[in-house]
Amino acid sequence: MAPISALTYNDAQRLFDDIDRQFQLSQETLVELSKAFLHEFSVGLGDYNHPMAMIPTFVTGVPNGTETGTFLALDLGGTNMRVCEVVLNGDKTFSLRQQKYKVSDALKTGEATVLFDYLADSVDAFLTTHAASAYTSPGQAAVDNNPDVVHLGLTFSFPVEQTALDSGKILTWTKGFAAKNAIGNDVVKLLQDAFDRKHMHVKCVALVNDTVGALLSRAYTSGGCILGAIFGTGTNGAYVEEVAKITKLKNSSAAARGGHMVVNTEWGAFNNSRSHLPCTPFDNSLDRLSINPSYQAFEKLISGMYLGEITRNILVSLIDAAPKALLFGGKATAILNKHYGVDSSVMSDVEAAWEGKDASEAADPDSIPTFTAFDDSKLLPAVKSKLERIRLVIVKQFGYKDTEVTLRDAAIVRWACSLVARRAALLSGVAVAVVLLQTGRADLPDKSGKHAKRTETEEIGVGVDGSLIEHYPNFERTTRESLRALVGPDVEKRVVIGMAKDGSGVGAALCALQALKQHQP
Ligand code: GLC
Repeated sequence: MAPISALTYNDAQRLFDDIDRQFQLSQETLVELSKAFLHEFSVGLGDYNHPMAMIPTFVTGVPNGTETGTFLALDLGGTNMRVCEVVLNGDKTFSLRQQKYKVSDALKTGEATVLFDYLADSVDAFLTTHAASAYTSPGQAAVDNNPDVVHLGLTFSFPVEQTALDSGKILTWTKGFAAKNAIGNDVVKLLQDAFDRKHMHVKCVALVNDTVGALLSRAYTSGGCILGAIFGTGTNGAYVEEVAKITKLKNSSAAARGGHMVVNTEWGAFNNSRSHLPCTPFDNSLDRLSINPSYQAFEKLISGMYLGEITRNILVSLIDAAPKALLFGGKATAILNKHYGVDSSVMSDVEAAWEGKDASEAADPDSIPTFTAFDDSKLLPAVKSKLERIRLVIVKQFGYKDTEVTLRDAAIVRWACSLVARRAALLSGVAVAVVLLQTGRADLPDKSGKHAKRTETEEIGVGVDGSLIEHYPNFERTTRESLRALVGPDVEKRVVIGMAKDGSGVGAALCALQALKQHQP
């Protein structure tokens, strides 16, 4: 047996290649994932107790841009909590004033009443500081006969089994929240009780998921949209479905009315059994040590809350590689040692430094020599300066001394970031493709990889929000890559992906408007 005195050149390269290979997704895998995804869609549409919850939202139409009114919106579920005042101008435009508030870990995991009291206090503070103007909207008087009452739409971005536009039970927490005594309770009631405890003249009239908000707000500003999707701290999508296909609504008045309804898929919970998802040991360790092991399996491969942690796991494994460290000379820092110490925004900075400010500056990835044969003196000047930029990001963000990070380390960190983010974006494309398949707008390729010809020409509107899709270099481009592989270039070209900026606030306002109209005599 050979002595394990040192990692040979080949051993080390094999280690890198092996990690690389585990993160690749073939077209065949993407197709298999889509089929499994479609299957879970149909199970969730037919049955209430499924992880991919396919939640009927009771939103039965999408706006067209002519809606008007002034509303207050409260948004909980992203990185920050926000209170905003939204004015819908009725001409596809809106104006918005907002204030962000931090939600501490103690609030996220403490008693639910404390969390909801904090939400109410924040709304109170916002109203005091911003001296809310006139919250006028059609139907206001009909609801409460009190023109002083401020109507609020709540964007609550967690799985909630909705029973009406303004009520729904919390099914489970996601994204690091675990407040006690909340699951199973009506979220609108939890909030309204907090307002009432403080004698505030605020009435929560609508409840909306951020994906539904993205869908509605994109429809409002662009005139048409079939899918709202979030690729941020978490990931999820909501789309317009035929009521007849939401078979679990059978015998309800909604089923009798027919037509369409927005469904909140909660696709972050796709394949929680992990039978199909291409999980690596880095993902498995993340899941095992997470606050919700074996939940949100798809989200844990995709969203901003987790990408930094997967990357940290890779980097630490290279630092620890025995008998010879393959990164940072075997030295970790407090940040790299800390659970969730690496934020996905750092990955984004690393990749942006590699890409340069404009696309023409983008370096050819093949111009990086294999890691084990890395030689600074042989680097092209453009590549060298990009790696130097990355090196500086690493020194600052991971807390190293300048002398402790080499250009080779910088190249390895960039490689790790792009592996993790590229897989996330390809998987995001699967989710978008599945909505097109589900709604009959696309077909999967046949065995030879070819797509059936389709004759439609109209645009397919998709509203998106979230830090990854908005800021992460190439995220959307890579999402489109897998979308194209799954639905074919003809359909992919017709998909117009647009930011639903402030979608949570505007969506909550639009939903509040719809709720008030329903109350009108
Ligand atoms: C998580 C939540 C979901 C939300 C998504 C994006 O997946 O469960 O409700 O839409 O994050 O914020």
